[in-house]
Amino acid sequence: MGERWTPKSWRHLPIEQVPAYPDAAALGAVESQIASFPPLVFAGEARKLKAALGRVAVGQAFLLQGGDCAESFDEHSADNIRDFFRVFLQMAMVLTFAGGSPVVKVGRIAGQFAKPRSSPTETLEGVSLPSYRGDIINGIGFTEELRVPDPRRQLEAYRQSAATLNLLRAFATGGYANLENAHRWMLGFVKDSPQSSRYQDVAGRMTDALDFMRAIGINPETHPEVRTTDFYTSHEALLLGYEEALTRVDSTTGDWYATSGHMLWIGDRTRQPDHAHVEYARGIKNPIGLKCGPSMKAEGLIRLIDLLNPENEPGRLSLICRFGADKVGDHLPALIRAVEREGRSVVWICDPMHGNTIPAGRYKTRPFERVMQEIEGFFGVHRAEGTFAGGIHLEMTGKDVTECTGGARALTADDLQDRYHTYCDPRLNAEQALEVAFRTAELVKAERSHVERPRLDAAE
Ligand code: PEP
Ligand code: CO
Repeated sequence: MGERWTPKSWRHLPIEQVPAYPDAAALGAVESQIASFPPLVFAGEARKLKAALGRVAVGQAFLLQGGDCAESFDEHSADNIRDFFRVFLQMAMVLTFAGGSPVVKVGRIAGQFAKPRSSPTETLEGVSLPSYRGDIINGIGFTEELRVPDPRRQLEAYRQSAATLNLLRAFATGGYANLENAHRWMLGFVKDSPQSSRYQDVAGRMTDALDFMRAIGINPETHPEVRTTDFYTSHEALLLGYEEALTRVDSTTGDWYATSGHMLWIGDRTRQPDHAHVEYARGIKNPIGLKCGPSMKAEGLIRLIDLLNPENEPGRLSLICRFGADKVGDHLPALIRAVEREGRSVVWICDPMHGNTIPAGRYKTRPFERVMQEIEGFFGVHRAEGTFAGGIHLEMTGKDVTECTGGARALTADDLQDRYHTYCDPRLNAEQALEVAFRTAELVKAERSHVERPRLDAAE
């Protein structure tokens, strides 16, 4: 580390979570093929997201990041993408309106295929096989054949990412994302929710605001900004050979960018400062996320910030905190104080999912109230420290799955078997995700009322 960076300098360093590909030549051939493919995203887009995250860092905007724990090849339908996008937009709208803050929208989508695992093997009824590592690496079916890492899966992941991104771009800019649609969908949610009364007030005020806008001539036909939205993609930069193949020089600046997604993050299991994943991430100019779990200590964090954001560029580094509802109060203050003492610019994000996973019979689940408690704890710590809770990072879907317990419909452990479809961790379903948005919006609003924020740019 500290040597000259290249897209492949990570290859000389120790690495965690590497799949055991049986045929190195076949892997190399696929990587060369992907290196010849067009980029999925463009450097200018990543720069625009970085600038937006720079505004989040100083409390001028809020980040909503979310999507599947693991995307799958079997569930690649237009319906799935549309349902996710529709709920995500509603959440963003609720946060914008009720929270009174511009919202930066980043999906865990169009590339979120590789999964780190706690154990390299999985045992079922006395049979042990290599763990499932995400569809880009091996198959989820519990057979020896499917669990062998197959490099051709990277080609399929590239294809699916391109097709997903294509549809998302069409949704974001083609009129589907207009404010009036999002508002209509949100009213449907409020009408059907058992907690309807809790959300009615905000919904009513949103209706009034839109009526007012329409009355003064601001509508999707006359104002493109009411018709389109900025939407970005993100995933964990875990499978470095694939990432390297899509790392390209930006011709306008001469800088290297990952072009597999706009924002890439380093997982909690692969953030050793002298190992491969940090080496790869330090050289690309995209906005980077760093997962911070309970084992992250203040000095370790500052060392990682030195490596990942040596120029202290606002928006470059987001710290995605995932401690667990009962640990956030113990761990977060020391990290915030170290960052403040050293004068580092970071975006503080709360991932209330990964520290709150518990077993429930043969499933893993996450109780909705624990998710909310971690978000509330996160805002509480920031309030006490005088810093900004910058955003939330969720595992969620637009479908009506039964994977997390609780929420307005009070799903129980017995309900999990009904529609437990995830390929990895349990996700909030559409209703639960919207509930999180409504409740988080109240927290954003309260934060804005007691912290003096810099004034919004005219451009916002
Ligand atoms: C994830 O975000 O799906 C994940 C594996 O998170 P973490 O690295 O925080 O465990
Ligand atoms: Co996960």
